[in-house]
Amino acid sequence: MPDGREVVPIASDHAGVHLKAALVAELERLGFEPLDLGPADEASVDYPDFAHPLAARVERGEVRRGVLLCGTGLGMSYAANRHPGVRASVAWTAEVAQLAREHNDSNVLVLPARFVTDELGREILRTWLATPFAGGRHERRVAKIDSPEPA
Ligand code: RB5
Repeated sequence: MPDGREVVPIASDHAGVHLKAALVAELERLGFEPLDLGPADEASVDYPDFAHPLAARVERGEVRRGVLLCGTGLGMSYAANRHPGVRASVAWTAEVAQLAREHNDSNVLVLPARFVTDELGREILRTWLATPFAGGRHERRVAKIDSPEPA
């Protein structure tokens, strides 16, 4: 973070390229340093090829959080959540994004690009970035995601 701005990596598949551009601009407007991990155009690609490099940065602690987009948000979330310590949350409303932060300490926001407008996508992003983890009883539940109690 050489100039003090938080680096926020962002990646998509072909279905999310359009909304990704809108969110890169929104991140810049908000004072973040977006790191666009691709793709650069709408040629068909495989979403895991873009989810894993971003999730690996979060897993390694290189960045605090990141943003992924695909058509439904589902494929990206499945791939990202294979990485220990990554809590990738599909959010289709600002309220879901708020709860993903407050209750689940979400560290990867996943947007369903085919089901949200650019305006809604920006609102979801702003809410997710600005909402703190609520802690308390949620600490215990989040800890159990990576360390389940024996059945
Ligand atoms: C691509 O057509 C689509 O499958 C992808 O964007 C995503 O929705 C997968 O979960």
